[in-house]
Amino acid sequence: MSVPVLTIDGPSGAGKGTVSRRVAKQLGWHYLDSGSIYRSLAVAVQKQAIDMNDAAAIARVAESMVLEFDCGAELVVRLNGVDITAEIPLESTGKIASIVASMPEVRSRLLQKQRDFKKSPGLVADGRDMGTVVFPDAETKVYLTASARERASRRYKQLIEKGIDANLSQITLEIEERDRRDMERESAPLAMASDAVYIDSSAMTIESVIEEILNLIR
Ligand code: DC
Repeated sequence: MSVPVLTIDGPSGAGKGTVSRRVAKQLGWHYLDSGSIYRSLAVAVQKQAIDMNDAAAIARVAESMVLEFDCGAELVVRLNGVDITAEIPLESTGKIASIVASMPEVRSRLLQKQRDFKKSPGLVADGRDMGTVVFPDAETKVYLTASARERASRRYKQLIEKGIDANLSQITLEIEERDRRDMERESAPLAMASDAVYIDSSAMTIESVIEEILNLIR
């Protein structure tokens, strides 16, 4: 029997992480946070002081790195046995992740690592190219987005709540820059699959987005 896959793609800050985790939990399915694979690679590249212009060397790191994800209450990530959880959410990690993710030789090496997450009883896959490249045959595909302004303001609130100093216009600029890089790269750019359902969460609560997605599955 084929394993069902739900893909949730969209730009950074659209709420994909929270929504995907909660939908996976409700369905009792596995969860792939593909962004953390690119983020883990970014951490590995920094730790090994690899030249950011050397795509072949970065691709070799992508191939050889051993990743373990513990999806308990909080996601725990181990890279070659070392806990790197604290480094995954950093802005600096996200920026380098977006740069290494633009390299085609890196993306091809990470394809199988992502497909290995597809296991019974089902998978919720969150990223940029889940519905277009990694799981093109997924039964249900969602493209979840929100305006850059709304995404920036959500990120700003998160940082302030954590007691981290933040600047809204700076965050908006960074989000727009990240969108540009993710959408304009040649290899598997962020794009909506032709058979995906478009959800703009700008004026929606997390609960109503989750409800809408669960209705698609039902
Ligand atoms: O979703 P995120 O912010 O954790 O992702 C970090 C970067 O990784 C993002 O800017 C682009 C890249 N990425 C990608 O290219 N393809 C994916 N499927 C997921 C993330």
